[in-house]
Amino acid sequence: MIGQIRYTYSHLTKMTSNSVTVRAPATSANLGPGFDCIGIALDIWNELTLTRGKFSVSVVGEGANMVPLDNRNLVVTGVEAVFNYIGEPVPGLQYECTNRVPFGRGMGSSSAAIVIGLVAGSAISGADLSKEELTVLAADIEGHPDNVAPAIYGGCTIGVRNGDDGWVVDRVSVPEDLNAVLFVPDMQTNTNESRGRLPDRISRTDAVFNIGRSALLVNALSTGRLELLKYATDDRLHQPQRTQAFKPMPHLIKAALNGGAHGAFLSGAGPSVLALATGREVTISYEMAETARHFGVDGKTMIMAVTQDGASVISGA
Ligand code: HSE
Repeated sequence: MIGQIRYTYSHLTKMTSNSVTVRAPATSANLGPGFDCIGIALDIWNELTLTRGKFSVSVVGEGANMVPLDNRNLVVTGVEAVFNYIGEPVPGLQYECTNRVPFGRGMGSSSAAIVIGLVAGSAISGADLSKEELTVLAADIEGHPDNVAPAIYGGCTIGVRNGDDGWVVDRVSVPEDLNAVLFVPDMQTNTNESRGRLPDRISRTDAVFNIGRSALLVNALSTGRLELLKYATDDRLHQPQRTQAFKPMPHLIKAALNGGAHGAFLSGAGPSVLALATGREVTISYEMAETARHFGVDGKTMIMAVTQDGASVISGA
């Protein structure tokens, strides 16, 4: 139980570093019904080397030509949030980013950037913030904890806002052999635009539909009764609305289930579709790719484990 999370930073003796290298994983949010609350960490990682010196940002890999190379970069936002939090001026820093998480595809690239920045800022400043503190800072930047919490803790997390008081985050155990099979379209989704299309109000029937499935989802994962996931990953809060912008989505979900997935859903705001599996991964990816081809959607399939690890310092602290 992680429980209620508040800011608790206190100034103790700090061990600052000259350079740190940090990694943070991809994540998939919502898992169908758990909109803005539930997410999982995926075994594909961005890396950041942060070194004291004249300010510069370099990016290689995914999104290299799309992310800003100044202080609008979310990695910089994360680092600066730590220095603001501990009440110290931001020093000159060189940011070298190696990105492997597909950019703008619903696989948590923004959250990976925020979290990698926070963990690096915490390490280089010597603040040594707790996971709870990192989660508060990250969720405040992102606005919801469903990607940032699993990026910090690994595995599957549930996160809810508790009024103005902070966030309550807890970890859900998931089977260790759980894999993710993704179809990742070449096109990108703008998360803000996608969220803007969602209605502010829903019917009681739809609320009940999602409450029951969110509960079933957590129970299925934590007990390993994965046969429940085909019911538990259904949703009425965002997937039907987002289908308007990506019509092949329900067909990709169906193809994954036909291929042997336990459950399948839109990953975050999409457009990637993620299937949970403990076997038949190649068949599932083949079925999804064939369906995408049928609908004329270019993209790629990816198979990866659900990782139990969250972001961490690889070297330098
Ligand atoms: N819960 C978020 C959404 C995840 O579906 O919009 C993407 O930020």
